[in-house]
Amino acid sequence: MNTQLLKPTTEGINEAARLLRDGQLVAVPTETVYGLAADALNPKAVASIFTAKDRPMDNPLIVHIADIADWTPLVKGIPHNARRLAEAYWPGPLTIILPAADHIPNEVRGGLSTVAVRFPSDPVAQAVILHSGCPLAAPSANRSGSPSPTNAARVMEDMQGRIAAVLDGGDSAVGVESTVVSLCGDKPRLLRPGGITPEMLEEVLGPIEIDEAVTHALKKGATAASPGMKYKHYAPKAQVRLVKGTAAAYIDYVNAHADDGVAALCFDEDIPHLRVPCVSYGHRDNPLEQAHRLFDALRQLDELGAKTVYAASPRPQGVGLAVYNRLIRAAAFDIINTIRVIGLTGPTGAGKSCVADVFREAGVPIVDADRVARQVTEPNTDCLKALCAAFGDDILHTDGSLDRKTLAKRAFATPETAALLNSITHPAIMAAIKQQLEDLADAGHPLAVLDAPLLYEAGADALCDRILAVTAPTEMRLSRIMVRDGIDRDAALLRMNAQPDDAFYTRDGVTVLVNDTTTEALIEKAKAIIADEIRRCC
Ligand code: TXA
Ligand code: MG
Repeated sequence: MNTQLLKPTTEGINEAARLLRDGQLVAVPTETVYGLAADALNPKAVASIFTAKDRPMDNPLIVHIADIADWTPLVKGIPHNARRLAEAYWPGPLTIILPAADHIPNEVRGGLSTVAVRFPSDPVAQAVILHSGCPLAAPSANRSGSPSPTNAARVMEDMQGRIAAVLDGGDSAVGVESTVVSLCGDKPRLLRPGGITPEMLEEVLGPIEIDEAVTHALKKGATAASPGMKYKHYAPKAQVRLVKGTAAAYIDYVNAHADDGVAALCFDEDIPHLRVPCVSYGHRDNPLEQAHRLFDALRQLDELGAKTVYAASPRPQGVGLAVYNRLIRAAAFDIINTIRVIGLTGPTGAGKSCVADVFREAGVPIVDADRVARQVTEPNTDCLKALCAAFGDDILHTDGSLDRKTLAKRAFATPETAALLNSITHPAIMAAIKQQLEDLADAGHPLAVLDAPLLYEAGADALCDRILAVTAPTEMRLSRIMVRDGIDRDAALLRMNAQPDDAFYTRDGVTVLVNDTTTEALIEKAKAIIADEIRRCC
């Protein structure tokens, strides 16, 4: 098949419309990305989209209309909030999912009972829809798995010889696909972020839920609310690794890994400092520009022949969330976090919290491992469910919260049950700590403290660039614990003796802060360390 390149003139648009009415495939420009269009009500034409794209048949398509009135026949009904949302943001980069009318072909729905509809703002897209006289089913016009095309030349790279025509409408303005929101459940649910941000949705809808798959890999065995989320996506041939952290940390990291075949997907400001081939996708603080340039930048990296790409991570906020969502998929969720982590540990009563306070006052964020441990066992968490499966449902109070005393009795009965407890809680605690450290890196923090009495037990020492251990002589610890916890000497001794001795905390390479004089002296020591750390990474 010879793929025609059509101009966005009256003749070009008429020819595209004629081909579509005839059941053929035409790639059309939209303000998000180019779409591979077919008559949405012609099952055979729709089926041929999947062949042209090599797309799995269970991945449903978006139906494009050019008049809100054309939505009514496609769905079972239009609830009030859906209509208000459409009136606020259509035409534009927003797709709304509602229960589908019965005549919507199964091919369009990917076997689901719902249908996704969008009214694009691009005038060429609107003209083609109006002239063809049919709603158009159109996924992004790339081969399945590769970055979506944002101009006609990129469409041709993937689709030459596979479709009837490409209508050339220039560069797509937004550059990433539409925001996809489902209004089928109790609460509006964001399935894919795009040019219409969560904040904009909430302005009309009130609170929305953000599907876990927007920022995280699907857990094994989970079903995707949006089937497209489960497939590898947007990926160039190179292996992409997403690097989180400040500009300085990103540059240091890339330059330290400047081997053959390494390239950087960076921000404009980074280019002068990087010692590897660079492709920029915009300025660090301009998510709209990043969205506009990202997909073409991914394709340029392949043209460079890059084998490994270190990508600077965008701030996942506003339109940046859409950029982040695409990039993290291009990276197959491979994240490198460059935030500098100071582990803070030591036995009870030695003065660890005093040191943590000094860091906090200096503006360094603290990840509190004890609090994380409580969070991962809150009602309905996976970790709590796993604990119930291992130790019995009666480790819960009647309100569903964890009865720590009963759990402790069971879990500490034998070394085996204790090991079982740790094998359930430690991975959950580690995952949650990693997540908090990533969030801090995303928020621009160069440095964080991980306050963890059990730093070594859960393996969290592996996350640290430096470890501080606070110790103190036994007598001083005893009197502090008695005052702090309001207990007598024997009870304080019991508490102390339940912990490992100092040698457990003060291992090779650990910075030891001995708290053996006054609190002021300890604070001075902590301040000196902070000054040194800030010099290192800021
Ligand atoms: O901006 C866009 O939306 C572009 C342009 C061409 O309009 N189109 C696009 O289509 O990105 P596609 O097929 O590449 O992505 C559609 C996404 C997929 O993740 C798909 O799983 C999801 O929307 N989707 C479609 N119908 C759905 C439904 N009924 N329920 C849940 N997810 C749905
Ligand atoms: Mg796509």
